[in-house]
Amino acid sequence: MSLSPAPLFTPFKLKNLTLPNRIVMAPMTRSKSPGQIPGEDVAAYYARRAEGGVGLIITEGVAPDHPVALNDHNVPNFHGDALDGWAKVLKAVKAQGGLIMPQLWHTGLMRKPGSGPNPHMTGVGPSGLAKPGKKVAEPMSTADIDAVIAGYATSARHAEELGFDGVEIHGAHGYLIDQFFWEGTNERPDAFGGDMIKRTKFAVEVIKGIRAAVSKSFPCSCAGRSGSNKTMPSNSPPRPKRSKNSWNHWLPPASIASTARHAAFGSRSSRTRT
Ligand SMILES: Cc1cc2nc3c(=O)[nH]c(=O)nc-3n(C[C@H](O)[C@H](O)[C@H](O)COP(=O)(O)O)c2cc1C
Repeated sequence: MSLSPAPLFTPFKLKNLTLPNRIVMAPMTRSKSPGQIPGEDVAAYYARRAEGGVGLIITEGVAPDHPVALNDHNVPNFHGDALDGWAKVLKAVKAQGGLIMPQLWHTGLMRKPGSGPNPHMTGVGPSGLAKPGKKVAEPMSTADIDAVIAGYATSARHAEELGFDGVEIHGAHGYLIDQFFWEGTNERPDAFGGDMIKRTKFAVEVIKGIRAAVSKSFPCSCAGRSGSNKTMPSNSPPRPKRSKNSWNHWLPPASIASTARHAAFGSRSSRTRT
């Protein structure tokens, strides 16, 4: 059997999104944005990737509008003063004919106490567990959950207003959304906990919040787990026993290239379409 790379160089179309090819740059944390503001060097970095011809750039993980999203002072925000920097990134990428989506990333309780911006504030997680059996905070209240969901929606709206090509949410690697997915870090007795389907409610509500904040055609993808990840810290919660591709069963993919990222388009209705 011959495996031809030719399909990689054919356009990919999903509703209003058309990629010139099926090569998608994976999100990679850079820690090059002091004060959470992306500078000229960040614009030049992404513009070089667009110049190289990648079909779509998913940015490094960036903070949605929530004060304890980050665990690193040099990771950029996607709200407030950082938006001017992102406008410059976008302009530089567009000048090269590129497409780009920010990846919204909330570290949850992977954020060690005292780390990142707002070090005096306590991090948030579904059950206050940094890993199974290790309680470091109180479980998130409903108000806490609402605030995070609103922060994702606000940043997604900024992305559309600035002219980005979509938005991705980071749903993997033991960070906040994944902490809701995993039974070891989600012991909630309410609607956000329970069996695997119930543990997806937080992600679903984040996507619904985004869908309500952006136009119908604005793409929203969700990054799922991709199996073992040796880059993650040792306190990363254990992998579930299910197949590494178990995500695929409950967030049906509209595949964008080979990155196992799932495009979640939908309407403003309460139904989340994936
Ligand atoms: C230095 C580095 C930083 C990364 N940062 C992110 C990130 O911000 N968001 C994310 O979803 N994945 C991140 N990843 C994971 C990569 O996007 C990618 O999924 C991983 O390297 C596995 O690649 P593969 O899926 O092609 O096997 C990072 C990986 C590396 C090596």
